[in-house]
Amino acid sequence: MSEAEGFDPEWLALREPFDALARSERLAARLVAALPARPRLLDLGAGTGSLLRWLAPRIGRAQAWTLVDADRAMVEEAFDTIADRAEAIGFRVTFPSRRTLLVHAPGGVWRVEGVIADLAEAPRNLPLAQADAVLSSALCDLVSEPWLERMAATLSVPFYAALCVDGRDRFSPPHRADAAIAAAFRRDQGRDKGFGPALGPRAPEAIARLFAARGFTVESAPSDWVVPARGHPSLRGVAEAFLTELVLGHEAAAARQHRGRRGLLEAWSQARLRQIEARILTARIGHRDLLALPPGH
Ligand SMILES: C[S@@+](CC[C@H](N)C(=O)[O-])C[C@H]1O[C@@H](n2cnc3c(N)ncnc32)[C@H](O)[C@@H]1O
Repeated sequence: MSEAEGFDPEWLALREPFDALARSERLAARLVAALPARPRLLDLGAGTGSLLRWLAPRIGRAQAWTLVDADRAMVEEAFDTIADRAEAIGFRVTFPSRRTLLVHAPGGVWRVEGVIADLAEAPRNLPLAQADAVLSSALCDLVSEPWLERMAATLSVPFYAALCVDGRDRFSPPHRADAAIAAAFRRDQGRDKGFGPALGPRAPEAIARLFAARGFTVESAPSDWVVPARGHPSLRGVAEAFLTELVLGHEAAAARQHRGRRGLLEAWSQARLRQIEARILTARIGHRDLLALPPGH
């Protein structure tokens, strides 16, 4: 069996403010309106809890989260980060047991628990009977079409998938190797990430099609990363580090696919790194958020 792709918590921390700006407020509001009074939420591939930190205040009432991830260290980091950030904004935090964190937010308590599980086996290993919605952020482009089909066939609650890549990546100013890099990068996104051949940029279309076929009403909205994020001076300091990771990530992915074109790929990344230093590089990385509501919602 193939292994789950490893993720670096430092990368997740770097992207968190760009994710927060990118996710669609409109779709999140539609999700929040579809949830019951005290929603129980299952966050698949929760990482360090970035989606909770963004969505919990938007829900704004008592709620219970189950963070599911294959990586135990990641879930531990999620508990620490959620607690630290909550305390930093003045919310009291308590731990009624080793497995449970309570954030005493003004609108009601956020109950947080973690489950270590391999999502390749989902949905059969998920506590779906205790979930009012199944959520994910930056996960669904890693999964395969049969995985999504199983989810669509099993779920009878809302399915929310934020930040699915859609392949509309653009670095500016243009460079002669852009098209080769983009093609190789897109191919690399289809590598098996532990779920079978990954959907990569086909994820938004596949979610919409497979859930609609099961009677869900599917809405979708763009959620592109835009770097640097104009009008957000707080992100200016991290834009360079974020762009550097984007450039190196694109080069590494393209190199896996294009072993014979090392020279061209290196020329591209060297030019891009110089442009970051000169503060003239901008990037738009295409994503979409999707919300699938079951019949009756
Ligand atoms: C791109 S990160 C996104 C994390 C978080 N949702 C966010 O938005 O920051 C993908 C997450 O999915 C988890 N993951 C990947 N494959 C998995 C699998 N087979 N089972 C469980 N978790 C998995 C990784 O450990 C990682 O935390």
